[in-house]
Amino acid sequence: MRKRIVAGNWKMHKKLEEGLSLARDIRVRLEGRCSEGKEVILFPPFIHLAGIARLLEGPTGFHCGAQNCHHKTEGAYTGEISASMIASAGASHVIVGHSERRKYFGEDDALLAAKIDRALEEGLTPVFCCGETLEERESGRQFEIVGRQIRKALFHLPEEKIRKLHIAYEPVWAIGTGKSASPEAASEMHAFIRSEVAAQYGRESAEAISILYGGSVKPGNAAGLFAMPDIDGGLIGGASLQAADFEAIFNAL
Ligand code: PGA
Repeated sequence: MRKRIVAGNWKMHKKLEEGLSLARDIRVRLEGRCSEGKEVILFPPFIHLAGIARLLEGPTGFHCGAQNCHHKTEGAYTGEISASMIASAGASHVIVGHSERRKYFGEDDALLAAKIDRALEEGLTPVFCCGETLEERESGRQFEIVGRQIRKALFHLPEEKIRKLHIAYEPVWAIGTGKSASPEAASEMHAFIRSEVAAQYGRESAEAISILYGGSVKPGNAAGLFAMPDIDGGLIGGASLQAADFEAIFNAL
């Protein structure tokens, strides 16, 4: 069954104590309101993971994850973090393919496919990000681009594995710009993504996957987005850094 999810991508924000205190505040505000089918996932920087995983232990529906992982199991890769290390810190999820990783670190479809494999091997739930740039949308290529991103990174997986991940549609032009996609435009893309998964794996698998929207989600626009039938929640950047805003977005779920 599809879960409803509000996830916070903190990116490169919050020093250690600030991060722990934000996670504590979010737990206090939302404890008792999450469940198996309605989850909160926090994606802090790596150094927070073990502490936040401990802090979120106990109540149902709270999870944390990393913003990235390396595509190899282990080895001489100075400065990198493996999926098994993330799991050993108590985290359960990992973002793969965020547009900032694609843009600033040159991550391509083949590399992301390998990261998805590593994450699943370690029992982590990947949140796979896809989305088109403004130029791609203006030239009418958004479905072609997003279709390619999901096919190349995900469609090598067997059916039982595709059901273990979430997808986040994050149009690049909406990330951090204050300019969110309209509920209709986002929903149209979510329906497209689900239909692509259904064409490859069948309707039942497509219906098992949560598809989140990301890109300038705020307390003021979350309800409109989350009301759309194929939008199962949000991946929140800027507005996840304030507990009150994050709570207000959760309230819209
Ligand atoms: P934003 O970021 O909410 O600040 O636009 C979303 C994301 O990059 O995941």
